[in-house]
Amino acid sequence: MISIQDVSKVYSLESGDFFALKHNNVHIKNGEFVAIMGPSGSGKSTLLQLMGGLDLPTTGEMIVDGVHLNKLNEKERTLFRRTKVGFVFQNYQLLPMMTVAENIALALSANKTPKDEILHRVKQLMKDVNLEGKESQFPSQLSGGQQQRVAIARALAMKPQLILADEPTGNLDQKNGTDILQLLSKLNKEEKITIVIVTHDEQAAKVADRIILISDGEIVQDRRKGVARNEPLASSMA
Ligand SMILES: Nc1ncnc2c1ncn2[C@@H]1O[C@H](COP(=O)(O)OP(=O)(O)O)[C@@H](O)[C@H]1O
Ligand SMILES: [Mg+2]
Repeated sequence: MISIQDVSKVYSLESGDFFALKHNNVHIKNGEFVAIMGPSGSGKSTLLQLMGGLDLPTTGEMIVDGVHLNKLNEKERTLFRRTKVGFVFQNYQLLPMMTVAENIALALSANKTPKDEILHRVKQLMKDVNLEGKESQFPSQLSGGQQQRVAIARALAMKPQLILADEPTGNLDQKNGTDILQLLSKLNKEEKITIVIVTHDEQAAKVADRIILISDGEIVQDRRKGVARNEPLASSMA
């Protein structure tokens, strides 16, 4: 699903070049639920953004769902993001002037989906995230947990095989955080959607099958449930 080969991200600062990511290799299979953990500023969000084609690496290759992201032009990359990936963010990133239904329908509308099909799909998505009846409300009228459910419904609208979530429980209390993680876990198990989540949440570590630890721009540990692997990362490239 995701193949990351020798990927670095360099930001040019006045003080010189800064390596936010340093020559990383990682392979994520279809259907995995991966948690990326590590200290603040270690490069977690940068890595997730590269996986979703929101940005391009400075060195190396990103192949996602068979697509070589470096080879896409700007327009193709926008289409890739809209159709292949569902994004979920810590602060939900819903559009405040749009209703819940309109927020969920954004990518569908952009993709020129017929109106009746959009209505049908939004209705199903509202059911999937347990928000039936809230279609006409505005984001500000919902709780944090409910807003994150809307964001997940929006992420699912185009039926992506991959969801990338950056600290999706970061703004939520424990109960709502657990509910969101359970929803993601259900999507992973029942719909076989590959999920990569950046998190500090110990609960998330429990639902994930695999935890990738990143420090100072480098993947320093990569372990699957029940298997400890601390050796050099070439070993995780199989
Ligand atoms: N656009 C940018 N320009 C310069 N430096 C950046 C930029 N984005 C991120 N960084 C730096 O890259 C490092 C990694 O950032 P980030 O991926 O957001 O870390 P994390 O998500 O693990 O907290 C940080 O030191 C951050 O300051
Ligand atoms: Mg971050």
